[in-house]
Amino acid sequence: MFSVFVLIAYVLAMAAVVVSFSMLSSISSSRKAVAAGAVGIGAALLGCVSFDYWFARYTAVFLAGGAVGVAWTYMVKMTSLPQLMAAFHSLVGLAAVLIAIFMLALSSTAVNSVGSEQILESITAMSALDIGGGAVIGAVTFAGSIIAFCKLQGILSRSAIISDQPIWFFVLCFIQGIFLFLFMVFPSVTMLIALSIIACALGVFLVVPIGGADMPVVISILNSLSGWAAVSLGFASSGKFGGSFLLIVVGSIVGASGAMLSYVMCIGMNRSLFSIFSDSMKNTTSRSSTKTFTKSGETNSAINAPKTAAAEEAAFIMKNADSIVIIPGYGMAAAHAQYALKEMADLLKKIGVTVRYGIHPVAGRMPGHMNVLLAEANIPSEDVFEMDDINNDMPQTDVVFVIGANDITNPSARTDKSSPIYGMPVFDADKARCVLFVKRSAGGVGYSGVDNPLFHSDKTFMIYSDAKKICESIARELHE
Ligand code: TAP
Repeated sequence: MFSVFVLIAYVLAMAAVVVSFSMLSSISSSRKAVAAGAVGIGAALLGCVSFDYWFARYTAVFLAGGAVGVAWTYMVKMTSLPQLMAAFHSLVGLAAVLIAIFMLALSSTAVNSVGSEQILESITAMSALDIGGGAVIGAVTFAGSIIAFCKLQGILSRSAIISDQPIWFFVLCFIQGIFLFLFMVFPSVTMLIALSIIACALGVFLVVPIGGADMPVVISILNSLSGWAAVSLGFASSGKFGGSFLLIVVGSIVGASGAMLSYVMCIGMNRSLFSIFSDSMKNTTSRSSTKTFTKSGETNSAINAPKTAAAEEAAFIMKNADSIVIIPGYGMAAAHAQYALKEMADLLKKIGVTVRYGIHPVAGRMPGHMNVLLAEANIPSEDVFEMDDINNDMPQTDVVFVIGANDITNPSARTDKSSPIYGMPVFDADKARCVLFVKRSAGGVGYSGVDNPLFHSDKTFMIYSDAKKICESIARELHE
């Protein structure tokens, strides 16, 4: 039964998702966007359960699932959101696989009274392709997202490699192609499960070798894939389960926006999608090496020992500067230093120093991470600049204050072809007159695991401290 109520619920769900996505384009409306998205998903769930006579049972399941989701999200720290995203994408992928299997099994059960052979023959090659495609994309998303989760969580090394990965990958693609063809001709649940298992292996082989700075792109690709899996199943269900047009519309929005985000992030990283995957297939053993650099970015055993500074010296340097650019990164997020940073910056502004913030497209651990945190601390948006808009000003900048950022300031990304971040656009912090570099220890490296020649520059003062504590200490010094 496909009642008017269901239709209204689905139209409302689609409209809410569209509104949510359009509002997400601005930080000021992002909270409302999340609320609109939640309304959309709620309407979709309501529509789904309402045309089933097991209404109460489904409602109980959704409420239980929702409660787990809410509790889980509350427990997760802001800095662990990328892992949460990866975990959620894996669930979407798993759901796509299970729905595909369920769809096929249900078709056979429905006609079993007539004879199971007739049923499977009644599934056209095109429907089989939709179902098989949905399961394959879902399984790749599922397995790939679990690997991404493990890498982000530190369970799996970021520089992990699989020996002979390219050979295995292409062999698996070949086998997958043959199985998909056979499934289109002779669709069966067993064949679909086999397809899904091969696709899981493909997902693992695809994501394991990707490391360093390319993980953000991988996460947005997996996001996109989860949407396309829904679209494929929407076509396959063709009205049978009432949700087909909802799956097609919402899945396309998620798929297309994820693809767009991947494209934007590739531009931000100065990488093509093809090179991310092809490079990962080359020998990746160099990725784990932690090199030492001279200030020019070349490896050398005789390097300058980093100069260090304490809060007092940092406050002195900053209050005597005309212009300061603050570059926040993951460490600022981990330390929840945005409020203390704002207080410190406000004190500097009060004494006439021009303070601006520079944001790198992949700073932190998720797209827009720094924008969200700075907005949370009420840092005026006119003080916040994208990297490309502020980089040319670096040679005229007195002080660059790097707070918990590392890879995004690493000059070797411009010069060292063997570096895993080679080619990624970075802040020209090394071109400023002075660099104050906040991190907790001399040993800690950034996400990509490589040393940063900026530490050894004559212009750089390393401030070994927690990001929040140092901002508070500098603010105290400025007060005094
Ligand atoms: P990172 O390169 O990861 O550097 C973080 C720095 O913060 C490290 O030097 C670390 O050194 C320091 N740090 C950690 N906790 C700190 C604390 N409490 N106080 C002070 N410093 C602290 O970060 P980034 O420069 O923001 O670059 C982002 C990296 O993550 C890129 O490689 C990017 O590709 C990758 N990535 C980004 C995303 C997205 S979408 N943004 C997603 C996944 C991965 P210590 O340990 O010595 O303190």
